[in-house]
Amino acid sequence: MDLFKAAITVRENAYAPYSDFQVGAAVRTISGKVFTGCNVENVAYPEGTCAEAGAIAAMIAAGEFEIAEILVVAGGASKVSPCGGCRQKIAEFAKADTPVYMADLAGDIEESTIGGLLPAGFGKEHLEVK
Ligand code: THU
Repeated sequence: MDLFKAAITVRENAYAPYSDFQVGAAVRTISGKVFTGCNVENVAYPEGTCAEAGAIAAMIAAGEFEIAEILVVAGGASKVSPCGGCRQKIAEFAKADTPVYMADLAGDIEESTIGGLLPAGFGKEHLEVK
């Protein structure tokens, strides 16, 4: 799967000296282009950014807005699952049934959707005035 290859490759560049937990993410947009990101930690811990945030920032910087699918890869005992904040970030640019793939380093991949990972999430409809 090319998304897995893209994500595990960018993971090599992750800057994670504090957690020692490197993460890679790859987004495919509806145009077919792939954008990648890795986590970038900071000595002021809350200033670190997740791999998904980096991939989404690259997508937006390229002028693309619609995620067709996204894959996240990391090591660890179980397959990495996007954190709550990243689920919200993905949802901003995806549909409820947009696939989210969660991979381990061996290339074993679990599939969900952003709607499955973020049920009843805060959405644009909540901003509408009554
Ligand atoms: N991390 C990600 O990059 N994506 C996630 O969805 C989960 C967590 C990063 C943040 C931090 O640099 C490290 O993994 C440990 O939490």
